[in-house]
Amino acid sequence: KQIARAVKFTSKLFGNALSKRIKATILYATETGKSEMYAKKLAEIFSHTFHSQVLSMDEYDTSKLEHEALILVVASTFGNGDPPENGQTFAQHLYTMKMDEHGLTNGHSSTSLASSASFIKANSQIDNDRNLVSLERADSFRGSVTDADIFGPLSNVRFAVFGLGSSAYPNFCAFGSYVDNLLGELGGERLMKLTTGDEMCCQEGAFKKWAPEVFRVACDTFCLDNDETFLEATQVLQSEAITAASVRFVESTSDDIEKALSFCHNKKVHRCPLIGKRNLHGKGSARATLLLEIGINGSIGYEPGDHVGVLPCNKKELVEGIIDHLECPIDPDKPVQLQILKATHTPDGIVKNWTPHDKYPRCSLRTLLARFLDITTPPTPNMLQFFSSCATDEEEQKRLNHLATDSAAYEDWRHWTFPNLLEVFEEFPSVKPLPDLLVAQLTPLQPRYYSISSSPALYSNQIHLTVAVVKYRTQGGDGPVHYGVASNYLYDLTIGEELYLYVRSAPNFHLPKMETSPIIMVGPGTGIAPFRGFWQHRLAQRSLNGPGKFGKMSLFFGCQLGILDLYREEKAAMVKEGILSKTYLALSREPSIPKTYVQDLMKLEAKSVYTQVVYEGGHFYVCGDCTMAEHVFKTLRNIIQEQGNMEDQEVDSYMLTMRVSMII
Ligand code: 2AM
Repeated sequence: KQIARAVKFTSKLFGNALSKRIKATILYATETGKSEMYAKKLAEIFSHTFHSQVLSMDEYDTSKLEHEALILVVASTFGNGDPPENGQTFAQHLYTMKMDEHGLTNGHSSTSLASSASFIKANSQIDNDRNLVSLERADSFRGSVTDADIFGPLSNVRFAVFGLGSSAYPNFCAFGSYVDNLLGELGGERLMKLTTGDEMCCQEGAFKKWAPEVFRVACDTFCLDNDETFLEATQVLQSEAITAASVRFVESTSDDIEKALSFCHNKKVHRCPLIGKRNLHGKGSARATLLLEIGINGSIGYEPGDHVGVLPCNKKELVEGIIDHLECPIDPDKPVQLQILKATHTPDGIVKNWTPHDKYPRCSLRTLLARFLDITTPPTPNMLQFFSSCATDEEEQKRLNHLATDSAAYEDWRHWTFPNLLEVFEEFPSVKPLPDLLVAQLTPLQPRYYSISSSPALYSNQIHLTVAVVKYRTQGGDGPVHYGVASNYLYDLTIGEELYLYVRSAPNFHLPKMETSPIIMVGPGTGIAPFRGFWQHRLAQRSLNGPGKFGKMSLFFGCQLGILDLYREEKAAMVKEGILSKTYLALSREPSIPKTYVQDLMKLEAKSVYTQVVYEGGHFYVCGDCTMAEHVFKTLRNIIQEQGNMEDQEVDSYMLTMRVSMII
């Protein structure tokens, strides 16, 4: 296989004598900017021997793909398996190439492929306060390698992929894995097997190991290896540890927060007022689920099913507590710029320069702690090691060192206390790091995603969100109360106050193009969120275009008790209007009735579900947490198998054709 398509150079001399360097195209898909940072580091390394070019996937001209010699991909995964926004078109392009290769040309996109049957769309009411995740497995798209793959369109391309993701999600690194699979299936020659970096553990270490390895393999493949160049090139990765001498705050003016957040999160962030807020739970419920109405101007577009990334603020008490504890040597309200002493390798040796931090803006320490820094996630072992070096009390120093180095002790401590930064300082009061050093060690506060709960056709100047307010006690229920960052920030926000957000498109979770297709929606708890947008959209469509022929729309909703039912009146009104053909309510802890889950009600409606999905080209949507979604998926599979009298293999491949998502 390799001989047939390899364009190999026969000697190192020849390789080194090339007047024109071999091109290395480095593509990244990033959500937070991390993949971009790694891709740029990789480009620095490769530029020692190759002509390296680094591009975001959506900047890349995909028609060039077949003519590349070497492609290196650094790709993050969004949530439980989606590509980052700037990876979506590239993902679609690979998919189309794959379809073309199998003779399913022109217009056989994922949608039309599936339309011969129907398709399943999975989503999460992504709420980082609770880490809700979506359905499906990363391997579902993997096909077996066939002869066509061996001589595929990318048969002159060498490639390697580094995937970034979080192992908190079952479909860990699904996008990196998807790109790796498809590049291989399209005939590309894999230089190294897919390597992944886990946000939860040692991601940077994994990249630092992979980058020199892939550079070495690429140099070998193109006969360009040279030990001296190799050493020089990989020095890029030797970042020095941050110490008090290599970090400083410098007094400055303040940056505009909207611009600073846009820069920090790699997105165009908007400032929008909160114009409405109400608790959706009936009186007597101890819990709160909010309907938030946010004013938007014409420049923000969205479709039902899309997400909003909310940029929250940490709780005031937490920020105050940390500032008090630090006994700050600087005024916490004066704007400062965090600067890092960076070493650059030049022909004349190492040159050191003070450079502004690449993420954080010029603002006060208080604003940094409130808006830009993650102060609620328990510290990593590395962070504890840093705290151990700051502790002035010997016992505290020892214990911190123990936690930092003994992973079993660390995991026990982490799970039991799940401490935020202030609680760590309370447990280890002698730890009082210098604020600039502390800020440099902390990680950025991440946006929290929520499914949009409205339709722009009904509310052109508003976005609605359905948000469960997360509050829990640590230490098996006896510890202090912990508050979900974003949901409690939104809970505390008053009408008229402004918040920062951006819209993130979810093309795999939009309404069907054909209005006549039936829609089955399954969304227990806040999983109902996007479906409110769907029914609102239908309502608006109907009043605009007349009754017409709209497909059936049914909703399976579940909650623990009757008083926790969400949008009860609105759902009833939609049924009365004929927008929702049927709603099902599964109550799981209502004393008077047996425990019922949404999938139990689906089973009772097996025949109708089967007819709508299989015979009427229906669309099946699931939104909510991962375990529920898995169970719903299995139930749907069983319904189709039983009603359609199918063998295991037949139903499994049928379920695959139902998946609209290219990746999961
Ligand atoms: P429970 O909390 O009583 O287990 C919204 O959270 C609803 O989804 C609740 O009624 C909850 O029930 C239910 N739920 C929890 N796990 C589920 C699962 N695996 N499948 C379906 N519903 C589930």
